[in-house]
Amino acid sequence: RDSRTILAIETSCDDTCAAVVRDRRALSNVIHTQQEHRRYGGVVPEVASRAHLERLDGVVRTALREAGAELGDVDEVAVTVRPGLIGALLVGVAAAKGIACARRLPLAPVNHLEGHVAAAYLEDPGLEPPFVALVASGGHTVLYAVGKDRGMSLLGQTLDDAAGEALDKGARMLGLGFPGGPALQKAAAEGDDARYDFPVALRDGKNLNFSFSGLKTSLLYKIRGMSGEEVRAELPHLAASYQRAVVEALVSKLLRAAELRDASTLVMAGGVAANAVLRERLHKECKKRSLKLVIPSPRLCTDNAAMIGAAALSAEPLPYPHYLSLNARSV
Ligand code: KG4
Ligand code: ZN
Repeated sequence: RDSRTILAIETSCDDTCAAVVRDRRALSNVIHTQQEHRRYGGVVPEVASRAHLERLDGVVRTALREAGAELGDVDEVAVTVRPGLIGALLVGVAAAKGIACARRLPLAPVNHLEGHVAAAYLEDPGLEPPFVALVASGGHTVLYAVGKDRGMSLLGQTLDDAAGEALDKGARMLGLGFPGGPALQKAAAEGDDARYDFPVALRDGKNLNFSFSGLKTSLLYKIRGMSGEEVRAELPHLAASYQRAVVEALVSKLLRAAELRDASTLVMAGGVAANAVLRERLHKECKKRSLKLVIPSPRLCTDNAAMIGAAALSAEPLPYPHYLSLNARSV
């Protein structure tokens, strides 16, 4: 089943993406990150839909060309149907339906979060469940147990902000750019991560949920008590300490989940998994415990369509014409 050639489309947020996937390999993985949102300091849904509409056709063509493929070589189309910005999702779903329908191809509807996890199969084609997986992105922080049949069950999730959201909001408070995760990582590079003691929530026993709103408030109060000059002088240390608190929460919960589930394989995925400090910490901790760890390369961690194609490899697509009434969902 894995040797189908899949054309995948992802438009759930502000990246317009298309990829060609085959045999757990990405033959192409085109990502157009919309720059229109920078001036607003956050993603504007209506602007995102419009930009997807303008770009998607070209992005799909480029993905086929870079894979050395033509539409006639495609066996199946895959598309993100949820969760995400509804208008943005609809552009991708309509395009995928059109392409699949024109050639009577099957269409696989893919859950974006399952896509993030499936990126690990592209990184390590030999990876097989069972494993525990943590997805940390701008909108979600979710822990899953992935079973032998690749079925996913929820182990825990954030009770308030997502990890990426916490990084984005923290970066904003510190006057760093958008998206905040990469900006914070850069600002933190030369900082002392032990200078400030930011809280890590829900550290107790068997709790596999996350909470990041207290951390955000704690940074707010900290900088309220400082002059602008002080904040600027302390910026690397504030950034490093804040980033450390987010990393600490993610690392400790993923390790705890592995322990509780008696899992020997761990997957860390989602945009936040592109973070260099998080990657290094996790590799170190897993090595110490002789656990197998798969973290997709940074480009496969942030939103992309190859991961959507990878998720489709292990799903049953809808045959033509059963997907014509397929709809997108925001949650
Ligand atoms: O998965 P993703 O690309 O989109 C969503 O599905 O949300 O994740 C985006 C999130 C943003 O919050 C961004 O700040 C964060 O991932 N991110 C990072 C890094 N690169 C992206 N966070 C920390 N370090 C990074 N290098
Ligand atoms: Zn995502």
